[in-house]
Amino acid sequence: MADKEELESVCKRRGFVWQSSEIYGGEAGFYDYGHLGARLRDNWERMWKDYFLGLGEHYHMIYTPNILPHRVLEASGHVDHFSDVLVGCKRCGNSHRGDHFLEDITGESAEWMGKNEIASFIKENKITCPDCRGELSEPENFNMMFQVDIGPKGDRKGFLRPETAQGTYMNFPREYRALRRKMPLGLATVGSAFRNEISPRQGVYRLREFRQAELQIFFIPEHHSEEFEEAYDNLTSKQLSLLRAGWEEVRSVSLDDLDDLPKFYRYHLAKMFEFYSEKMELSKDRFRLRELSDDEKAFYNRIHFDVEVNMESLGGWKEVAGLHYRGDYDLTQHQDASGQKMNIPIEGDRKIPHVIELSFGVDRNIWALLDLGYRTGERDWIDLPDYISPYQVAVFPLVKKDGLLEKSREIFEYLESSFNAFWDKSGSIGKRYARQDEIGTPYCVTVDYDTLEDDTVTIREISSTNQIRLKVSDLKKELQDYINKEKEFQR
Ligand code: GAP
Repeated sequence: MADKEELESVCKRRGFVWQSSEIYGGEAGFYDYGHLGARLRDNWERMWKDYFLGLGEHYHMIYTPNILPHRVLEASGHVDHFSDVLVGCKRCGNSHRGDHFLEDITGESAEWMGKNEIASFIKENKITCPDCRGELSEPENFNMMFQVDIGPKGDRKGFLRPETAQGTYMNFPREYRALRRKMPLGLATVGSAFRNEISPRQGVYRLREFRQAELQIFFIPEHHSEEFEEAYDNLTSKQLSLLRAGWEEVRSVSLDDLDDLPKFYRYHLAKMFEFYSEKMELSKDRFRLRELSDDEKAFYNRIHFDVEVNMESLGGWKEVAGLHYRGDYDLTQHQDASGQKMNIPIEGDRKIPHVIELSFGVDRNIWALLDLGYRTGERDWIDLPDYISPYQVAVFPLVKKDGLLEKSREIFEYLESSFNAFWDKSGSIGKRYARQDEIGTPYCVTVDYDTLEDDTVTIREISSTNQIRLKVSDLKKELQDYINKEKEFQR
């Protein structure tokens, strides 16, 4: 749990994340990942791929371009509908996102409000600019896509993709054939998305360029649900914390009781929940699955739950991912607009597959880990899952003389082939531990005079600061077991 300024300061100082183009004063909505942030992000993405591609036999990664032609996003509905309500100030010229601006005033969600509702509210309540008290302009719809010219003549229009999903939808028929017509078919991608947010704020939470990790699962409910139903029946735990639309508070419920939701959807809710509790290791009171009401969800989403994490640095519950049952909307739109068949043969007929989408904002998830993991007090440290910490192990010589430097280097090189390892020979041992604590390195290995005698080292664990003595020959196996949670660090 972290104060925003304090966490941002650690992130900058240590090399995690900070505003981009900083030397020119920065530009809102763009962030750079430094050497530790890049490792953390890569590790998170690797963990995401390992976990979600593992959910199905026919699930694969694909990569598609960042720029999409105009007609693709026209077909998807983004050209006409991907907008937020912009309210400008006639005096100071500042722009405000209508719903956020009203939320700040009323303290209630205004996500359901369109430009007419926002205009009436402003008029009836005589609302003025929050920055200068000037008169506000008439609210208007502002399309959030960045338009680009393709080619030298500037006559072909395109957009930076506002989500990674569209490239995946267009590739469904080709991959369906290449993968020998196996269903359910899962196509995942991880990459950048771009949204010209009206007023980006809250650090990496609302960016103009960000990363998404999205898995699109294609299936025909009447024909391919059996596999999901079987997996549902085999779930080891069906108990989750949920906030359904209309409920006042989160309840711990059994998925069996949510029988108004199809089993294929409940199964994926359980898997999202498991990812947050077991892979991201978030405590169950810090995240929840929240169902969006009809007013809140996009018209093509038949069922929509968000994953929200309670982050102190961002002032409370914030969305980091979503589970969207999009029906056959996406493939129907692309089939109609392109004239290409998106349907598949099924029992003498042809049907358009439905999509269940597991969508994650990478940056928001990284921030959630930092926010929830940051600890201050007698010492400052970050509690990250071992598997995705920038470094999993650091190796130090107790002193730089009498062969300890060389021995520690040898052990570091031995560990480096299996782990993200770091070698630090400068400063006192206390300072070296403190540096690793602040960047979330779970294990530190110290090489001392006994090492030269009996080939043992001290290994210290970050959360307890407890130390044990291990033989160098056992080090790799022991570390692997701690990291894979096959063994507890003996305290
Ligand atoms: N394909 C579905 C889709 O794009 P979304 O809810 O608009 O759905 C998915 O976005 C995820 O992307 C969100 O859950 C959020 O984590 C992340 N995201 C969306 N807008 C963002 C922004 N401006 N900055 C950072 N992350 C964002």
